[in-house]
Amino acid sequence: DRQPIVAIDGPAGVGKSTVSRSVARELGLVYLDTGAMYRALTWLVLESGISVTDRCAIAELANRCEIQLAASVDAAQPVRVWINDREVTSAIRSLDVTANVSAIAAIPEVRQVLVKQQQQWGQKGGLVAEGRDIGTQVFPDADLKIFLTASVQERAKRRQQDFLAQGQPQISLEQLERDIAARDWQDSNREVAPLKKAAGAVEIITDAKSITQVIAEIVLQYDRVF
Ligand code: C5P
Repeated sequence: DRQPIVAIDGPAGVGKSTVSRSVARELGLVYLDTGAMYRALTWLVLESGISVTDRCAIAELANRCEIQLAASVDAAQPVRVWINDREVTSAIRSLDVTANVSAIAAIPEVRQVLVKQQQQWGQKGGLVAEGRDIGTQVFPDADLKIFLTASVQERAKRRQQDFLAQGQPQISLEQLERDIAARDWQDSNREVAPLKKAAGAVEIITDAKSITQVIAEIVLQYDRVF
């Protein structure tokens, strides 16, 4: 029998990563950022000069690439990511990768390869996995499933604050709202494994909640299960 699995799903910019990393640390579980894998592959596609519409070439690339993740012990730090031995930790957060990742993640062959990898890593359990399809496809037998949501306006505001904190150039709220709404639409309307709340998932609406409150709520849910 395997160790516990916590599945955390939700749309772009809802604070999933920060929350998932902290929950993993508090519960002593490994953190798995599946979005980082789709981002790494997207980076490689762009880097290789392959067209984002060339499904065949992208599927081929997905089959041949090797992705490695290393979660930091410091919950404030994002996961470190390598693809084919190139470190892409910060490159995968670029606007260019962000703008193209949903198209790449919609390709069935890409999902097949990456989901299989995720399931292999999760075979023995002991992890908190975050993404769009963790509770529905990757680990449908997860012990606890969480679905995080927030309004587009709230998520755009948080993104803007993130950029500000990182000293990056300001992007207007209108632009951020458009980007987030577009990614929501693409992720929720694709044919394979669209973003949706899994059966039995606990939904947490985070608009009026602090990160600390959300983390505490998930840990409480976990303690109820075990
Ligand atoms: O979570 P993050 O914003 O890093 O995810 C980037 C993109 O990767 C998402 O917008 C989505 O298109 C894709 N993704 C996915 N399935 C997952 C995780 C991410 O399709 N499990």
